[in-house]
Amino acid sequence: MGDATKKLAIGMFQTGGVRPTWRMPGREHERNSTDLGYWIDLARACEDAGADFLFLADSYGYPTLHDEVIPTAVERNVQFSTVDPQMLVSAIAAATERLGIVTTVSTQVEPPPVVTRQYRSLDHFTGGRIGWNIVTGSAQAASALLFGEPLLAHDERYEKAAEHVDLSLRFWEGCWEDDALVRDAATGVWADPARVHEIVHDGTHFRSRGVLVTPPGPQVTPTLFQAGASTAGRDLAARYAEAVFLAAEAPALARQIADIRSRAVGYGRSPDAVKCLVAGTFRVADSRAQAEDEHAAAIARISLAHAATLYAYFTGIDLLSLDLDRPIPADAAGGDNGRTNIERFLGDDAPTVREVLEEFRANGVMGRPFLGTPAEVVDQAEALADETDADGFLVQPDPDGGHDRFIRLVMPELRRRGRLKDELPGTTLREHLFGDGRRRLPDDHPGATHRRTRATA
Ligand SMILES: Cc1cc2nc3c(=O)[nH]c(=O)nc-3n(C[C@H](O)[C@H](O)[C@H](O)COP(=O)(O)O)c2cc1C
Repeated sequence: MGDATKKLAIGMFQTGGVRPTWRMPGREHERNSTDLGYWIDLARACEDAGADFLFLADSYGYPTLHDEVIPTAVERNVQFSTVDPQMLVSAIAAATERLGIVTTVSTQVEPPPVVTRQYRSLDHFTGGRIGWNIVTGSAQAASALLFGEPLLAHDERYEKAAEHVDLSLRFWEGCWEDDALVRDAATGVWADPARVHEIVHDGTHFRSRGVLVTPPGPQVTPTLFQAGASTAGRDLAARYAEAVFLAAEAPALARQIADIRSRAVGYGRSPDAVKCLVAGTFRVADSRAQAEDEHAAAIARISLAHAATLYAYFTGIDLLSLDLDRPIPADAAGGDNGRTNIERFLGDDAPTVREVLEEFRANGVMGRPFLGTPAEVVDQAEALADETDADGFLVQPDPDGGHDRFIRLVMPELRRRGRLKDELPGTTLREHLFGDGRRRLPDDHPGATHRRTRATA
């Protein structure tokens, strides 16, 4: 059970593409994910609302079956309006002052020298407001084809991810000592060579020798997030993440959170080292009945083929080729894509394929929405957080109101009940989540072991 007085962290979710509201009358401007103004407006709205961060999801993958793109994905925009979120961060940072900005980069695609230089640069440009969402990636079959690389088996991708993160931490924490940057105009000394260290790594998936040439930013290491709740994913989160995105119904969610906390302790970290943030859709209306009606109308707009395409995106499995009246077979061919949404529907009370399709049609990957008046959805969200010991929410844009209704109606209600921080503490994203002064990784984080002081250098 959680603590009913715990302040909840609030992140706002957005894919790198258009919002689900793009078809609604009066929201034509939301079709323009290729327009920088679209992103700046969204970021400013999130900042004004007092959210801890805006999260921009991303993947090189897209829905395929048997190595071919699924036409419905193109037609119905399942990943077909995305821009590269990394390219947006500086513009968003320049247009905001406090908002944290979290982006996804897969450990399958960009190697540690690329990831560490990008995030270190962004740590500077955002004034320490950047976070990295570590994933092994959705739709890895498509991504592997795109890059002309073999598709690694699922758990091997996670082994590669752990090696990637560990090497990245060595670059961030182990290259530059704290006082290595001298910048003395009188003597012309830029940095002390004795305090900038080469990293040498010869591992299973990566080989590297060299230095990260960009000096440390305010956080030194970006705030580390993780998404992907398969067993291997939860283990990665427990080992390295400072916040994790989860999407499941209450009993499974509580189990996932307890599992991540106990694994974190197993890695020598504190049980609350990882902020567990629940992906949730808030469908707010003047009455519960109206919210239910709007939800039903939104479901009616989604075809079963669209729902099956979404499922294929996350798992590689073609639900429409299976027996609709039986559960998903444990050995269903998924081409070794993501496992969270396969594991979610296994077990003794496994739903039939038809029920999984209906679930994806109604709720997608995020689970049932909170429905009702502002007071009702906050009652539901508080109950879920308290029951599962979650630390906050990653708010999905609802298909009719986008983020607007949440910002206008739900944030004030959460605030009135004392569930939000009065002010975001500190200036960096890590401080927003963990408190003023916590700019750097804590000492019990594995990244801290890579720090070099002059004495040990
Ligand atoms: C709220 C939320 C956000 C996510 N964001 C991303 C993302 O931006 N990119 C991505 O590739 N995977 C993302 N994922 C994770 C994928 O759904 C997928 O589970 C993962 O990449 C594969 O790992 P798995 O095998 O552990 O499921 C997200 C998951 C959740 C719950």
